[in-house]
Amino acid sequence: MKPIEPARRIRDLPKYLFAEIDRKKKEVASRGVDIISLGIGDPDQPTPPHIVEALRDAARNPVNHRYPDYEGSLPLRTAVGKWYKDRFGVAVDPATEVVVLIGSKEGIAHLPHAYADRGDWVLVPDPGYPVYGIMSAMIGAQVHRMPLCEERAFLPDLGAIPGEIAASAKIMFLNYPNNPTGASAPREFFEEALAFCRERGILLALDCAYSEIHFGHDVYRSIFDLPGAREHAVEFHSLSKTYNMTGWRVGFAVGGAAVIDAMLKVKTNLDSGVFGAVQDAAVAALSGDQSCVERTRAIFAARRQRVAQALTRMGFRFRTPEGAFYFWVRVPEGRTSAQFCMQMLEKAGVVVTPGTGFGPSGEGYFRISLTCPDDRLDEALGRMQKFLA
Ligand code: MLT
Repeated sequence: MKPIEPARRIRDLPKYLFAEIDRKKKEVASRGVDIISLGIGDPDQPTPPHIVEALRDAARNPVNHRYPDYEGSLPLRTAVGKWYKDRFGVAVDPATEVVVLIGSKEGIAHLPHAYADRGDWVLVPDPGYPVYGIMSAMIGAQVHRMPLCEERAFLPDLGAIPGEIAASAKIMFLNYPNNPTGASAPREFFEEALAFCRERGILLALDCAYSEIHFGHDVYRSIFDLPGAREHAVEFHSLSKTYNMTGWRVGFAVGGAAVIDAMLKVKTNLDSGVFGAVQDAAVAALSGDQSCVERTRAIFAARRQRVAQALTRMGFRFRTPEGAFYFWVRVPEGRTSAQFCMQMLEKAGVVVTPGTGFGPSGEGYFRISLTCPDDRLDEALGRMQKFLA
């Protein structure tokens, strides 16, 4: 008998960070430990009722029981266009400049298929969402990590990208408000990044999953009000974090018609779109009363303050996040990120994410997610304090 072997690209593929953390969490929980997760960024609050009700009604509509449109329903793409206009003052053509995604992760993961060939360079932030680099490497592209360090306010130094890599790069991924550091980026940085990409024929892929979760003054503005952005950039949005809809799997990308068309070529061959009822509910989310988003921000703002105070009391070094719902915290001296997080899990029953899960520049850090109910968050902070003592 000859054993079957998975493809080399699968053998070489690292396990998905949060699936691995889940596995470890379950292992420790099976020993009877009460686990509190400050790991994955999965909002604990329910989806607002008007969105759930829209899904309930839409699920009864037989039109939604058939294949959805590949590019997303016209009502949802139109709602995206209106949301862009209201939120950013930017006009978007729903017919050609929007594609609905099975969560922004799907579009991000498939973008390298559309824009990078084997051997091409893809530029990714380090630390950064693991999907950018892993899914680029999976199709044989080379990954260049752009370090985000505290001294540069977690903005990459574009001038430090080696000339030959910059010249043959195809995609640059950026993400602000930033996961995992909580940093935001000033407008001038986006201008610099766009000019860099335009000069070299690079597609600037902006992961805007946290665009609505902000606490400071640098509220995200769409890149599409900068000249030339439409041909060289694409923005990925998710309803997951904005409307507490991680489980629903719905997001969208906005870009020039040529970029959306290239993404659709991949997508139509690969999946059959988002369940129509979920798309109808997404219309309710984007077009409905946005005060639910303000309430979500207020909840995270209060937790942010609580966690900042507790971390300061415990003597941790960190920058209070300007956006997203994560704290990026220095690991105490003498331990690696992985050791520290493992000890926190084993000894305190608290899940935090090791910085190295986001890339080598994450060594020396761990990430706390604020997506945990208030009482459990307090309990976790108390346990952390005891663990450190
Ligand atoms: C995170 O915690 O970084 C994200 O929620 C993970 C994900 O979107 O898969």
